[in-house]
Amino acid sequence: MKQEEFARRRLQLMKMAGDGAIVLLRAASHKIRNRDTTYPYRQSSDFYYLTGFTEPDAILALVPGREQGEQILFCRDHDARAEQWDGARLGLDGAVEILGMDDAFPIGDCDDILPNLLEGRTRVVYSLGRDTSFDQQLLGWISRIRAEVKRGARAPGEFISLDPLLHEMRLKKNREEVRAMRKAARVSADAHIRAMRACKPGMTEFELCAELLHTFYAAGGACAYEPIVGGGENACVLHYVRNRDALNDGDLVLIDAGVELDHYASDISRTFPVNGRFTARQRELYSIVLKAQEEAIACIAPGVAWEEPHRKASTTIAQGLVDLGILAGPATDRVEDGSILHYYPHKTGHWIGLDVHDVGDYQIDSQPRELEPGMVMTIEPGVYIPAGSDCDPAWHGIGIRIEDDIVVTRNGYENLTDAAPRSIAAIEECMNA
Ligand code: GLY
Ligand code: MN
Ligand code: MN
Repeated sequence: MKQEEFARRRLQLMKMAGDGAIVLLRAASHKIRNRDTTYPYRQSSDFYYLTGFTEPDAILALVPGREQGEQILFCRDHDARAEQWDGARLGLDGAVEILGMDDAFPIGDCDDILPNLLEGRTRVVYSLGRDTSFDQQLLGWISRIRAEVKRGARAPGEFISLDPLLHEMRLKKNREEVRAMRKAARVSADAHIRAMRACKPGMTEFELCAELLHTFYAAGGACAYEPIVGGGENACVLHYVRNRDALNDGDLVLIDAGVELDHYASDISRTFPVNGRFTARQRELYSIVLKAQEEAIACIAPGVAWEEPHRKASTTIAQGLVDLGILAGPATDRVEDGSILHYYPHKTGHWIGLDVHDVGDYQIDSQPRELEPGMVMTIEPGVYIPAGSDCDPAWHGIGIRIEDDIVVTRNGYENLTDAAPRSIAAIEECMNA
């Protein structure tokens, strides 16, 4: 993403926040994994969206209309010793020259400088309740200004949430963002293809997972979320991430894995036979999920209600399960009375972008919102029949999910993850090539 794009977003946000406002965000911190080892650092998506800055220990202050400079970054300054251990920092000079800030200060000076920026502002635009230590710090600065009111200081009187403004911006992706997501989607599709080709009975779930990781890391990416690689009955656990068991001849395996590339997520699920050939029973059930997914995708277009793909997928799955004798008919009653939830317990999708479960409201005034060009969502119907389900035990232990990432276009949609084989014929061909 070009720096001009991050700058454009800051200007747009300042315009929405209005004169008299101050917008505040803090960068993500390092998180301890165990003792002095940290998790791989990942910038907060909101902070990245507005700055492109990938270092911790930073605060962004946007102060619309401030004469001495509207866009201010507090960050780590250069420090030769620290940089010898942990790598180069952008520094105060980089914040101005590379990121295009009007001014930059050392992060250690924020307690001195931020109260001055807050003083005289009428409105603080901030996501309260996500970062309790920063909440405390901010409230401390406000209290300090309030203590000075008799001497003429003016403390901000209004607090409004940053989320509705920023997350509405993030929900609709521009061309550059769709390009980044297309790239991530392609890498994930390649990873699923690699896994299909490598899969054979006797392998473990983690060995199959390693095939995915190879493609993700070789492309310069990382996991957008913990991969799910579940053979047989494990596929019925929706968030199965243990990935320790052997993959057995005759079973299906469900992989739900996506790369994060240039901070953008992708999210693909594919389900395929461990030995490369679907059994008759697996075919029957798989065909229902595939039909549900194809119908849900086909209805995506601007103006369509967000709920519509889910309604379509649920109806098709219910009808399919009734046809196979897994549910008693009529199918529409099984959707309405909720018994479909035993076999299809989740929604058909979610927004995706910088976060795999991306930001943005799903309803407006309690009504499902309409799809608009630039929104990106997953379509991921599934059927799961865990042991003990109230149907012929011959179906027990099968879990199937098929998931793609779909961008709403002006005329309809584009399936970003279409390159990963999905039909029974395409999967068998890929696995047996
Ligand atoms: N991988 C998480 C999801 O499909 O929502
Ligand atoms: Mn998903
Ligand atoms: Mn997924």
